[in-house]
Amino acid sequence: MAKNKSTISLRSYQGKRLVSFLRNGDYAHPGETEAIIQVMSKFPKNKHQVILDAGCGLGGTAFFIKENHWGNVIGIDIETNSILHAKKHYPSLEFHIADVNNAKQVFDDRTFDLICLFNSFYAFHDQTSALLSLADIAKSHSKIAIFDYSDPLISLRTPLYREGNKETTPFKPIKINQIKELLRKTHWHLTELIDITDNYIKWYSDLLNKLLANKNEVIEKFGQPLFNKAHQVYFKIHDSLLKKMLGGAIIYAEKQI
Ligand SMILES: C[S@@+](CC[C@H](N)C(=O)[O-])C[C@H]1O[C@@H](n2cnc3c(N)ncnc32)[C@H](O)[C@@H]1O
Repeated sequence: MAKNKSTISLRSYQGKRLVSFLRNGDYAHPGETEAIIQVMSKFPKNKHQVILDAGCGLGGTAFFIKENHWGNVIGIDIETNSILHAKKHYPSLEFHIADVNNAKQVFDDRTFDLICLFNSFYAFHDQTSALLSLADIAKSHSKIAIFDYSDPLISLRTPLYREGNKETTPFKPIKINQIKELLRKTHWHLTELIDITDNYIKWYSDLLNKLLANKNEVIEKFGQPLFNKAHQVYFKIHDSLLKKMLGGAIIYAEKQI
């Protein structure tokens, strides 16, 4: 249970467990399986393709993708406890503790047909370096799908922003006006950008309602401070979505070479 201020974070392992309790599965992204199907329906199902789930968290997304026959999925995440959980609960899949920036060191000469990121891009300290690193382990013309928060406003710093340093997790939604150029200079070519802000609004509204409906059980399982944190964070995100200070987007791109 979270006991002091420094450990009260939804990004901690305990925080992710609260999130997955609310979301009824090992998912730390809005929309759960509906979102995965929405993103992945763009791609053919092919058991021979190798898919990387970058920033896979507790492993539920990777497992769902594999179980639904999109291909063979491998997950990486920087957070040790999440990967230990993923390995324990989904032993048929391969998971690695790794920083996305060091993916090449993990996979050596292995390359991927498809790379997906479900609400992990916003948490990367260095998004440019992450995209370069992923391009390095992608096959020629392989695809990347980034499902995440978006920043619909040009260079506006909202109260939600915490650029972060090495010690804290940043909150860096996809900058809609810059993503095409960011992809281009990291060897990706933007093929489609889909605004899913309305879906994000609905998903966060559902999540807030579920948190309140299960208040007693959440407090019993995870403690009052983590309940308060979840309520504060989800309220703020939902409010920012409603005010159009924050959005949701799916970005599809193809490796340039
Ligand atoms: C909101 S969670 C999403 C987890 C998972 N994709 C899901 O949908 O359930 C963001 C994840 O990104 C991971 N992450 C953040 N920075 C990372 C990095 N540099 N390399 C790998 N994973 C990272 C975090 O540890 C966290 O598990």
